[in-house]
Amino acid sequence: MRKVVKSVSLLVIALMVILSAACSNDGGSSEPANADSDKTYNFKLAHITPPSHMWHKAAEKFAEELDERSDGRMQMEIYPSSQLGTEADMVEQISAGSVDFGFITAAYMSSRSPSFAAWFTPYAFKDLKEANEARDSEIAKKILGTLDEQGMVGLDYFFAGQRVMLSKDKKIEKPGDMDGLKLRVTPSPPMQDFYTSMGASTEGLPLPEVYSAVQTGVIDGMDMDLDATITNKYFEVVKYGAVTNHMVWPAVAIVNKKTFEGMPEADQKIIQEAIAAAAEYAVLTRAGQEEEFKQTLKDEGMEIYEIDSSLFDPYKKQFDEKYGKKDPLIQEFIDTFRD
Ligand code: BEZ
Repeated sequence: MRKVVKSVSLLVIALMVILSAACSNDGGSSEPANADSDKTYNFKLAHITPPSHMWHKAAEKFAEELDERSDGRMQMEIYPSSQLGTEADMVEQISAGSVDFGFITAAYMSSRSPSFAAWFTPYAFKDLKEANEARDSEIAKKILGTLDEQGMVGLDYFFAGQRVMLSKDKKIEKPGDMDGLKLRVTPSPPMQDFYTSMGASTEGLPLPEVYSAVQTGVIDGMDMDLDATITNKYFEVVKYGAVTNHMVWPAVAIVNKKTFEGMPEADQKIIQEAIAAAAEYAVLTRAGQEEEFKQTLKDEGMEIYEIDSSLFDPYKKQFDEKYGKKDPLIQEFIDTFRD
């Protein structure tokens, strides 16, 4: 009988060891054994855009880079198209640790940490390549650092196209043409203030409601990027597209702090290098698609044109004066990037 009890005890202990090893390999949430650990990870990443959008392609590139750089130890499942809920839901899940990574709009992040509004400084960058160089700046890193207190680590920024102005019936040729127009602008105060300063009224509709709102005339147009104009087929319901490229549109790559800081340094480095490679891939690919996207929209029947950016100078000045005062990091961003 004693022998049986001893064997059962050994079996239970063995099972406990196997189980605890299995747990320690799940999602990177436990302490590392050593810096060269052969720990395996099954990460989850969530974002809001459809699989055809550049942010999803960047997420796939990130997954590939992780797989290669870790010799298969780091695997990632991607949940696109708001499958895990709104951005607010995703950020809650990331700070709680049930989801590891997110690509979350800087617009939403500015509601958690106001300095992210700096990225909406109008006409701060000549083009996407210049915005990409800003990723590595001290001020861009300081803004990511503000997430530390919220159970998250800000890793990097992913850019899709810059923002453009779409309208249904009235062609916008100068800021004054927006007077009286009702435009959908992402519910982010710096983006909405830019439009209201030009006389538009803004509706902060969530993305899935935008198509039918413009189709039924609830709104006269929208602030958007060319990418989503194509992926969400807004070209079917708007006629005019002013390619103003007046603001960049970054997603912020975030990771659960405990997951990240619980990893061996060598694994943290893999994550940082993989995400930088994916961010670089996204911005360079997207920068090369600008002309193709404009042509696609022309082929779909839209009138695509440009507006002289100097017409927006008074509104840029108003933005700088208002937002520079709101946060010293926003002021530092303006001082760093404004010509
Ligand atoms: C938007 O809210 O305008 C938006 C969100 C994600 C990708 C593109 C546009």
